[in-house]
Amino acid sequence: MISVVTPPSSVLRRAAATMALVGLGLGVAIAPAAGNEVVALPSGCFDPLGPALRTLADDLGVVVGTAYRSAFAADDPCYEPTATREFNSLTPEIATFSNTIARQPGEYDFSDADAICAIAARSDMRCQVHNLVWDPVDHPEWGIVPEWIRSQPPAERRRTMIDHVTRIARHFRGRADTYTVVNEAFDDQGRLQANVWNTTGDESYVVDAFRAARRTDPQGDLYYNEFGAEDVNVKSDAVFDLVRRLRREWVVVEVDGRVRHRPLIDGVGLQMHVGVGPGEAPDPASVAANIARLRREGLSVRITEMDVRVPVTDGRASAVDLLRQRDLYHSLVLTCLLAPNCEGVTFWGFTDAHSWITENPETFSGAGAALPLDAQYRPKPAYGAIRRAFVSSVGSEH
Ligand code: XIL
Repeated sequence: MISVVTPPSSVLRRAAATMALVGLGLGVAIAPAAGNEVVALPSGCFDPLGPALRTLADDLGVVVGTAYRSAFAADDPCYEPTATREFNSLTPEIATFSNTIARQPGEYDFSDADAICAIAARSDMRCQVHNLVWDPVDHPEWGIVPEWIRSQPPAERRRTMIDHVTRIARHFRGRADTYTVVNEAFDDQGRLQANVWNTTGDESYVVDAFRAARRTDPQGDLYYNEFGAEDVNVKSDAVFDLVRRLRREWVVVEVDGRVRHRPLIDGVGLQMHVGVGPGEAPDPASVAANIARLRREGLSVRITEMDVRVPVTDGRASAVDLLRQRDLYHSLVLTCLLAPNCEGVTFWGFTDAHSWITENPETFSGAGAALPLDAQYRPKPAYGAIRRAFVSSVGSEH
């Protein structure tokens, strides 16, 4: 049974002591003390002690979230309690993909996403709806866009897209705080992808998608989401130009019966799937510069899908790589948290027991161990480093 209780002062003292140890890089192997936990985990689940990440994020007023998959919770008793203990936001990992909710023409099944958002609501967490309009052209094997949409003629497909966005936003209105409305519109040269949603060869599908989302859920935060556009580069330049144009377009909406004007877009999601190898992670200073230029346009930023993959042999990473991983988690999370327009960080999972990196060996050959807890839920050096990034951001403006 999981319960949330007000921490007695002994727990706060223990938390402070643990934070001090974490600060020294020693916060990874402290045995759990009996009783008085802020959130009790079922026996057998590792309790890292000290403040949960969400406690630190709440203090800062930012999101700390994780991708969440119901199938993982089904046969792992530690999955849900650890997610709700550590994070203040859940992102259904696959439950709002078009191939999950819209398998048949016009028939929508929100049951899995609803179940995840219900866990979030029960646990006083946010729910982020992820990737309404996405067609990963390099990964047709994922089957993200169902065949009934792919086979429609272009004009009909555009109407389907607008209907798709509208249905999702109507369904989650008032329950989701954020939508990543359009994902991965650009190739690595900053050219618009010729994906299935791009029926006219220009950015009008992006505009139409945001307009539908904004009109339907005027209060939701609307994000454009991208990978490889974390730092300043040719792709993030293209993203910047696009979102700047979107930010300057206004939509008339109705909020509580009153007419209001809202810009089409609120922010940019930086996926942050990175690795410890050469050229596999952006330079934090350049990420900071990218975030800063978005701020000047009035745009928020979130890290939306962070993981840091490392080379593994039989599932095991070297100690040196785990330290490199720690340093990347620290510097990149801190870079975001120090920016006033950074709304927070979502990790693409939290335990090496469940990760899309190891599920996709063709894409991430020889890589794994990408998350802050190991497969037994023990904190890796990265976990303490993420805590430290939050602790040292106290006082930053958000
Ligand atoms: C991934 C999921 O984690 C996998 O389970 C699925 O098979 C494919 O999609 N960029 C995104 C995420 O925006 O939605 C992707 O999630 C990872 C890459």
